[in-house]
Amino acid sequence: MKGGYDHFMQKEIHEQPSALVETMRGRIALEVEDCSEGDGSECTLERQGSLKLLDSLDLLKEDGGGAEPLWRGATPRVKLGGLEPHAENILRSRRLIFVACGTSYHACLAARQVVEELTRVPVALELASDLLDRQAPLYRDDTCFFVSQSGETADTLNALQYAKRRGSLCVGITNTVGSSISRETACGVHVNAGVEIGVASTKAYTCQILVIVMIALKLSEDSISKGKRRNEIMRDLLRLPSMMRRVLREEGVIKNLARELAQETSLLAFGRGYNYATALELALKVKELSYMHSEGILAGELKHGPLALIDETMPAVVVATNDALREKMWSTIQQLLARKGRLVLLVSKGDDDILNYFNGEENDGRARIITVDTVCDCLQPILNIVPFQLLSYHLTVLRGFNVDQPRNLAKSVTVE
Ligand code: UD1
Ligand code: M6R
Repeated sequence: MKGGYDHFMQKEIHEQPSALVETMRGRIALEVEDCSEGDGSECTLERQGSLKLLDSLDLLKEDGGGAEPLWRGATPRVKLGGLEPHAENILRSRRLIFVACGTSYHACLAARQVVEELTRVPVALELASDLLDRQAPLYRDDTCFFVSQSGETADTLNALQYAKRRGSLCVGITNTVGSSISRETACGVHVNAGVEIGVASTKAYTCQILVIVMIALKLSEDSISKGKRRNEIMRDLLRLPSMMRRVLREEGVIKNLARELAQETSLLAFGRGYNYATALELALKVKELSYMHSEGILAGELKHGPLALIDETMPAVVVATNDALREKMWSTIQQLLARKGRLVLLVSKGDDDILNYFNGEENDGRARIITVDTVCDCLQPILNIVPFQLLSYHLTVLRGFNVDQPRNLAKSVTVE
């Protein structure tokens, strides 16, 4: 049942390349131009009518490694059967509100910026319990997305009933077909990541981010001004499974890092922008599994308090992969170095400025460095969390705790 792995969590971490393919399967379509005129040299696809759905094989072939792009002469589109009839209504909403708990909430946080960017509709995020505690105002012209792996989380389900009573359009993003949230929502998207057994959510998280990005692409497909950006994202969607496979091959490096950190009592994690979610999710994984105190911190808040925690004994993870905030993250790294912090850095392959700095004589050994491929900024959190899922897994095994069933927790939290 564990497919040769020691624990379900490890299996589910390694299933992510194929889970991403399953999430995209049948949902990425290529509108092929009519090739019957001319010599057909612009068409790299067989003529199969005007819309070709990519199957999982196509997705696996497209790794960006020199393969002929599948869509030369074709326009990529996202197809989300459940959402299509409601897309116009959703776009007319005054607000898009994402409601979730725990890891599912972090998935919403990771994808928020791209939804705002592509739809230009204000996006709010709500922890389900907090929305209910505040009895927050919701209106008929709001669309609420309820994001849940199990589809049975009590707080999220209660928030859904609350939103329904206020007349908001309720959309589900669930990994479980036939679950309460799937049944109770007006429409939605199944994540299709496959069954997740480990209490710690791993493949559901990365696939939830992917689904929300695909929803943003779907909702913005008629926007000419967003066309270039959409195509960029679509192209990188197909590269994700092979890039994810490359991250997973580095498990040995992460295991060594886990050995170095296994006796610590605390671990801080800094990120910002798309990767604030990565820092929060890393900290949640570490605390729920290894019982080590861990805190995810928005790097922009460093000087507003957390910097006081930094000294030569405090391990601090910094997510500094290449995006528009890379310079700001470099400045965070400098701040932490100045206080002699023990750094673990996640950086992009080929970021020679950072890599050379720490390979130089002066700073050699001042940071442990993990590298990942660079992908489109809004998809980067999907890759970036993987080394930290592995880190929390190995920390837990080394500390001798139950990986798949941490104390006091249940896979589905069906009571408030
Ligand atoms: C659907 C089929 C899939 C088939 C594909 C072919 C199901 C579950 N899915 O996938 O097997 O290969 O058509 O075209 O039969 N929904 C909600 N709330 C949610 C999630 C989903 O109401 O939280 C609704 C959707 O609006 C939709 C239905 O459930 O009406 C199925 O959703 P989804 O599986 O995402 O649709 P497709 O990807 O089109
Ligand atoms: O099934 P859901 O996605 O609604 O569950 C929400 C949280 O309970 C869940 O993500 C929890 O935080 C995970 N165990 C974290 O790994």
